[in-house]
Amino acid sequence: MPRRLGVNIDHIATLRQARMVQYPDPIAAAVIAELAGADQITVHLRTDRRHIQDADLDRLASTVQTQLNLEIAATDEMVNIAIAALGKGASNGRPHRVTLVPEREGEITTEGGLDVVKHRELIAATTAQLVQAGIQVSLFIDPDIAQIEASNIDGVDMIEINTARYAEQGPKAIDAIIEAAQTAMHLDIEVAAGHGLTHHNLPLLVEMVPEITEYNIGHSIISRAVFVGLDTAVRDLAAMIQG
Ligand code: PXP
Repeated sequence: MPRRLGVNIDHIATLRQARMVQYPDPIAAAVIAELAGADQITVHLRTDRRHIQDADLDRLASTVQTQLNLEIAATDEMVNIAIAALGKGASNGRPHRVTLVPEREGEITTEGGLDVVKHRELIAATTAQLVQAGIQVSLFIDPDIAQIEASNIDGVDMIEINTARYAEQGPKAIDAIIEAAQTAMHLDIEVAAGHGLTHHNLPLLVEMVPEITEYNIGHSIISRAVFVGLDTAVRDLAAMIQG
């Protein structure tokens, strides 16, 4: 089965918000990424609105032709926004997706996976609301077996394994990802991965963890796009994830 590439375009909006102007437009980035082979467009609507804005979300939900993957914290505010913007699905009838992530005020980027063991009831209730609205649900999880097992929740059809430690520590952190991916597969949960992935550290992961069917990559693609263009930056990684 071909693996899917989700392109996170948050940092196009970061660049725009640095000057509080109209450009660069994340919607243009989404179109270019899709034309270059992205299978999914990912954005994180943060509580502090540091990059993606509410209006971007509405425009993306009606523009994206593949699937929009919205990362949010499991709060009432965010769930209501997600249902209003994504509940109708893509123009081709495909449902959009929400990935639930933890959020800490002031963090530079998402710092770890959800604590599903601790917050299982809240996550299960949030998932039920989203699924009821026709939205697919994924959970961002550290490669920790107890967390993976706790993610076996009605309506959760995918987990995204946090690869931050692998990005920092390299090959010695890969065994935990392999074990986590195999555990999820045995629970019949699809496995995505993301955070800190680059064209340097991606090939080993693709080779060693065939259970991963989707990669969500943002900062390194947008950074590389500054030099080689977004089309090339996306095409290169889309080819790389096929191994
Ligand atoms: N997946 C999740 C759940 C994230 O929060 C992020 C960062 O926003 C990413 C993937 C992408 O990480 P990076 O920007 O480091 O590629």
